[in-house]
Amino acid sequence: MANFRLDGAVVLVTGAARGIGAATCAALAEAGATVVATDMHEDARVPGAAEYHRLDVTSPAQWAATITAIEVRYGRLDVLVNNAGLQLTTSIADTSDEAWRQLMAVNVDGVFYGTRAATDLLARSGERRAGGSCIINLSSIGGLQGAAFLAAYCTSKGAVKLFTKSCAAEFGALSLPIRANSVCPGGIQTEMLDEILEHYVTSGAFTSVEDGHRTIEGGHLLKRLGKAEEVAAGIVYLASPASSFMTGTELVIDGGMTAA
Ligand SMILES: NC(=O)c1ccc[n+]([C@@H]2O[C@H](COP(=O)([O-])OP(=O)(O)OC[C@H]3O[C@@H](n4cnc5c(N)ncnc54)[C@H](O)[C@@H]3O)[C@@H](O)[C@H]2O)c1
Repeated sequence: MANFRLDGAVVLVTGAARGIGAATCAALAEAGATVVATDMHEDARVPGAAEYHRLDVTSPAQWAATITAIEVRYGRLDVLVNNAGLQLTTSIADTSDEAWRQLMAVNVDGVFYGTRAATDLLARSGERRAGGSCIINLSSIGGLQGAAFLAAYCTSKGAVKLFTKSCAAEFGALSLPIRANSVCPGGIQTEMLDEILEHYVTSGAFTSVEDGHRTIEGGHLLKRLGKAEEVAAGIVYLASPASSFMTGTELVIDGGMTAA
């Protein structure tokens, strides 16, 4: 019988104040994990979380402090979910240097800094855990295919996908007990999706956010938007011993959007 439980595991989730990150904390806690929720805000109430830390993922110093605090408190870290992300909906011509760099700083540098800061503790903890430790990175269907007016976002998510594969390759080469996988959601009903659609409304591509919802729903074979909880369920699977032979790949949770 496959083991989907996370009892005894200590998990760190970034960008946990809302959306997929918040749903992931609740689902991981439901599966038995001790969840350390983090986000860039000074404070946040995250259902299921044992504690909350302010962590701006673009700050290597804040990463170091957070990992040290987890080691002091729990003596281990079993799962890192690099979920924090930014979107940027604009034409390439109108993308400023600052906006491009800010997006890459969060979506790409943040994943790198987190992985670098956590690898040693994850490796030491993985030796004591069935299925090993796990890094789970939020890529996107935007990491599998391009999209108009989302060039920076898609570039960053493609980078996350290949960074994840490179982590898995390196952990394998070094025989470290850490698996690394990414998750590629389709259109998920969160504030980020509505912010993207608001930009499309401003540019005239959609008449309203609701019009945008209908268009994205139509692009999914299942003819609806995804829910944050449906992405969280995939993350619990990747974090659990049930996925013990999965590393270096991506779990696509997109209602069939990229299938046909
Ligand atoms: N919603 C979707 O349709 C969708 C689809 C594919 C992939 N994703 C990815 O899933 C992840 C979560 O998306 P979401 O829809 O929940 O987004 P969201 O905008 O609702 O939440 C993102 C969270 O990241 C946090 N964050 C932003 N910058 C940060 C920083 N510098 N340090 C720490 N935290 C920071 C925000 O405060 C926020 O709480 C993102 O990486 C996103 O790109 C979302």
